[in-house]
Amino acid sequence: MSIESAPHEQDIALAIIGGTGLYKLADLQDVVTHQPVTSYGVPSGPVRIGTFANRRVAFLARHGEGHSVPPHKVNYRANLAALKAIGATRVLALNTVGGITESFGPRVLACPDQLIDYTWGRISTLCEEPGTEVLHVDFGDPYTPCFRGEILAAAARANVAVVDGGCYGATQGPRLETRAEIARMRRDGCDLVGMTGMPEAGLARELGLDYACLAIVANWAAGAGPDPDEQITLQDVLANVEAASAGLGPLLSSL
Ligand code: HPA
Repeated sequence: MSIESAPHEQDIALAIIGGTGLYKLADLQDVVTHQPVTSYGVPSGPVRIGTFANRRVAFLARHGEGHSVPPHKVNYRANLAALKAIGATRVLALNTVGGITESFGPRVLACPDQLIDYTWGRISTLCEEPGTEVLHVDFGDPYTPCFRGEILAAAARANVAVVDGGCYGATQGPRLETRAEIARMRRDGCDLVGMTGMPEAGLARELGLDYACLAIVANWAAGAGPDPDEQITLQDVLANVEAASAGLGPLLSSL
């Protein structure tokens, strides 16, 4: 299905992009599955649209539902274009991250307000193809401020603790960072580190989508925690994501 012929729903209240450990949205009812092909190519997986807390919600797994797409290979443009094509206007990015500074330990949920991009070699703009209009979008606030406000208000209503603010550092991956890289990121002002925050946020801005990140802290980043020698294991990451995700359902229901 091309982007032009993708079914367009006027009333998609929210689109969600799920990250590592978040491959489907529990309680999404009456699901219709779309396999869009956009002018930027094929998204990471199907877009599943259903009813969640009485509203139409779309869900897409950023790494594919079987986690087969690494961060640097995600077709961020196709993912966002597909969500826009089906009628989404606001996109909530769920990002699994490492915590760098004190308030961002494992199992914390955070809604960052800034980011620094350390990625390289990814297609980071819609203005890539010859002849396309060159866009210089404002990106001083990389996450849509009013949408962040709505997320924080929903969290408060649902009694789910979410840290308001913080700086997300987007690294290339798929390897984790060295202790020196994390020490540098801390000096730069980063509170969180993840591999998928960019170019997603910048592309969402170019596409005119409201976009915010709800970060799920899965581990202390290398050397950042109370035990600087601690090794990061996938087992711990997934266990912490699962535990922290308990707050997601209530938060999303009230968003
Ligand atoms: N670094 C980068 N990305 C991550 C991490 C990390 O420590 N944990 C989960 N995603």
